[in-house]
Amino acid sequence: MTEKICVQKKPYAVEVEAGNTYYFCSCGRSQTQPFCDGTHKGSGLKSIHYVAAETKTVFFCGCKQSKLGALCDGTHKTLS
Ligand code: FES
Repeated sequence: MTEKICVQKKPYAVEVEAGNTYYFCSCGRSQTQPFCDGTHKGSGLKSIHYVAAETKTVFFCGCKQSKLGALCDGTHKTLS
């Protein structure tokens, strides 16, 4: 499988709106971080759909190593 690319070692704070679907870039190749722009095609990786349950600020993973998928779990703090 193609490797994920670490875009940044910190999350992206994004204001999401309740009921909206967001397409998180899981491969790290998108030019519209933290969201998918279709660049993953052919990489074996794909975007992760995130549906906002409420309107609030969420922290999308920038290192692409989070065990929570789209959302930061703090893994970026362990990266060298
Ligand atoms: Fe990836 Fe925090 S930015 S786990």
